[in-house]
Amino acid sequence: MPYSGPFHYGDRVQLTDAKRRHYTVILEEGGEFHSHKGIIRHDEIVGLDEGSVVRSTLGSDFLLFRHLMVDHVLSMPRGAAVIYPKDSAQILVEGDIFMGARVLEAGAGSGALSMTLLRAVGPQGHVFSYEVRDDHLEYAVDNVKEYFGEQPEWWTPRLGDLADVTVEELGGPVDRVILDMLEPWEHLEKVRDILIPGGVFMTYVATVPQLMKVMEGIRELKCFTEPKAWESLVREWKVEGLATRPEHRMNAHTAFLIWTRRLADGVTPPRPQRRARK
Ligand SMILES: C[S@@+](CC[C@H](N)C(=O)[O-])C[C@H]1O[C@@H](n2cnc3c(N)ncnc32)[C@H](O)[C@@H]1O
Repeated sequence: MPYSGPFHYGDRVQLTDAKRRHYTVILEEGGEFHSHKGIIRHDEIVGLDEGSVVRSTLGSDFLLFRHLMVDHVLSMPRGAAVIYPKDSAQILVEGDIFMGARVLEAGAGSGALSMTLLRAVGPQGHVFSYEVRDDHLEYAVDNVKEYFGEQPEWWTPRLGDLADVTVEELGGPVDRVILDMLEPWEHLEKVRDILIPGGVFMTYVATVPQLMKVMEGIRELKCFTEPKAWESLVREWKVEGLATRPEHRMNAHTAFLIWTRRLADGVTPPRPQRRARK
């Protein structure tokens, strides 16, 4: 799928009208976009640069762009709640998802994180996405295929429980593990068994009891570094002269992120040193 350059047939194009309403079309030879504001022929769009404007038969202007990944994630059909872009951005950088990395994620859910990971590791890497529910896996596969135009060769979506995964079926330990599921603390030993020493493990949990269980579980196993936890808050701003101020509404809470790294086998984690109180 082309990510830039002039429009081709097969591209998914977002049309935005003067009221900032979005419409999505997939360009087909001879295809037409119909709305109460008139008709636009797909053939008129092909060959134009992104950011161009087309006028409908009734004289309304529409701005044209390809869908960015973030547009796709926020508009795609879903079976399970997706990881929002503000959090997947944290996972990519803090989780150190590098080009060529072998990453395991569970559950695949709607495939939002899968496509972010797939684009980051690239064809030299590999993403294994486990999902226990076949209806959710179907969403993930459809959404990923829709975004990439086909199923990436460096992706293995599998129907199954993380509890049953073996290093052998992964072809060796993985570099990174990312969990987004209800009870990740049940799988910490599995993470230990499949993660390479030095590998990064991150998990995404919505509630404080989940956060506490994962943090305590990681400490108890004594094969990970002292975990850290945080959440990211993003507040948009309206910038219009004297009315400049933060937006009234925001997604104040999505989830907490927990991060740790696998120690080498047989190593005892150094105890975190706290400053003595005076
Ligand atoms: C919130 S969704 C994941 C959303 C996904 N990260 C995304 O961005 O689209 C959680 C998923 O974990 C799956 N799940 C729960 N326990 C699991 C397990 N033990 N192994 C594999 N998948 C599991 C659930 O069926 C559900 O689809």
